[in-house]
Amino acid sequence: MAKGLSTALISLLFAAIAAGAPTSNSTTPTVTSTAPPEYSTVPPASDDPNNVLWFPDSDITPVPERGSLGASVLGPQNVQIDLMNADFLAPPTTDNGDVPNAKWPMGLSHNRLQTGGWARQQNIEVLPLATEMAGVNMRLEAGAIRELHWHKTGEWAYIFKGNVQVTAVNTDGQNFINTVGPGDLWYFPAGIPHSLQATNDSADGAEFLLVFDAGDFSEDATFLLTDWLSHVPKGVIAKNFQTNISAFDKIPSKELYIFPGVPPPDNQQAPQSPQGKVPNPYTYSLSQVPATPLSGGSVKIVDSTLFTVSTTIAAAEVTVEPGAMRELHWHPTQDEWDFFLEGNARITLFASTSDARTFDFQAGDVGYVPASYGHYVENIGNTTLKFLEIFRTDKYQDVSLQQWLSLIPPELVKAHLGLSDETIAGLNKTKQVVVGPA
Ligand SMILES: *[C@@H]1O[C@H](CO)[C@@H](O)[C@H](O)[C@H]1NC(C)=O
Ligand SMILES: *[C@@H]1O[C@H](CO)[C@@H](O)[C@H](O)[C@H]1NC(C)=O
Ligand SMILES: *[C@@H]1O[C@H](CO)[C@@H](O)[C@H](O)[C@H]1NC(C)=O
Ligand SMILES: *[C@@H]1O[C@H](CO)[C@@H](O)[C@H](O)[C@H]1NC(C)=O
Ligand SMILES: *[C@@H]1O[C@H](CO)[C@@H](O)[C@H](O)[C@H]1NC(C)=O
Repeated sequence: MAKGLSTALISLLFAAIAAGAPTSNSTTPTVTSTAPPEYSTVPPASDDPNNVLWFPDSDITPVPERGSLGASVLGPQNVQIDLMNADFLAPPTTDNGDVPNAKWPMGLSHNRLQTGGWARQQNIEVLPLATEMAGVNMRLEAGAIRELHWHKTGEWAYIFKGNVQVTAVNTDGQNFINTVGPGDLWYFPAGIPHSLQATNDSADGAEFLLVFDAGDFSEDATFLLTDWLSHVPKGVIAKNFQTNISAFDKIPSKELYIFPGVPPPDNQQAPQSPQGKVPNPYTYSLSQVPATPLSGGSVKIVDSTLFTVSTTIAAAEVTVEPGAMRELHWHPTQDEWDFFLEGNARITLFASTSDARTFDFQAGDVGYVPASYGHYVENIGNTTLKFLEIFRTDKYQDVSLQQWLSLIPPELVKAHLGLSDETIAGLNKTKQVVVGPA
């Protein structure tokens, strides 16, 4: 009985709605004809530009206040950290909810000092969000060697300073040797044995960035030639090489990892291999590739379409002029691992479910943007911003917000955002990549 009644009531209601029956306000539009545009069902977003409030070199003691929000600090304060992270202490009001930390300064990493150089790393232990990739910053004095080794992950590298001579041998017994310089790359597929040695082209040797295609990679857990042989019975070693055991009198009792060496000539040749040379080089001279100029900067994109062997890492080297911005975009399926080379950047990660968090980055910082998170990279400094976007994939991909909105019916854009016809007509159908300055 009760059920029958409620069903009848609901039917009546639907009939009334369908007929566009007038309610107390006779001008209320009907559902079927002129439903109000979506954008008018909620109040418009605030006009507050929500700019960053100070910079690392600002001559102030930062205060966690934005407009009428916040209050001064009464307790202890690490002013240097707060100066570098304005958007942590005084976030834009557009930030919301809980987005995990996406910033790791290499300067907070424990450094491994060796005779001949050093190495420090970022991996999932220090930045749990970064599950897909890990990074190492390594320094080799002229002649110093990062010893012969291999690992379970692919290794991609970008040279900051100096020249590095790399060697490798593949599973078919084909060999490779080359010397590369600043802005150049190398890539070794998982398990391929290789070495790195700084030349003396620069008296200081070399420094570079390594990126590995696994977030839990540890530079302290690679397979080293010396570590292995110091853990194999000597009789087995002698048998393996069919030699007298005394031939191996001098092998180290433990790993060398990084150690000094005599600088190799740049044109050093590998022994002739009966199997020949590797078909595709393990290095790529990105420094020789002209950057694509953009309205707000430039970009070089390098993935396996150019650097054939680099099947698990794709990258973009991006410059952004002061006031310009890497446009609002996302990468459909790939996490982004960033390294900041120069300048000052601001990034907001939009994580869906209304969650957003803004981060500030300086040279030497690692950043991380999970797949599909909407983001931008704004140059908030007075000098060129230069950074690397790195992805665990064979092919670079992104979706540009502006390109998307320019290639769908304008009415649809208007219905969502209430933009003027003029604004919609001005949307560029070509990916801008880096826009501005305004
Ligand atoms: C009827 O609704 C319209 C649109 O919401 C509004 O502008 C108008 O003031 C309302 N009129 C009355 C009499 O409530
Ligand atoms: C191995 O080397 C030792 C020391 O040089 C030598 O005494 C010995 O005769 C050698 N053995 C063989 C089988 O060559
Ligand atoms: C650099 O190394 C090469 C090869 O060992 C050597 O011939 C050259 O003298 C070295 N140059 C300097 C400046 O040390
Ligand atoms: C840029 O210059 C302005 C004006 O000199 C200064 O206040 C600001 O701190 C500078 N920004 C950075 C990131 O250095
Ligand atoms: C759109 O962008 C392209 C590439 O940046 C530029 O050449 C072109 O002038 C832009 N078109 C308009 C209408 O702004």
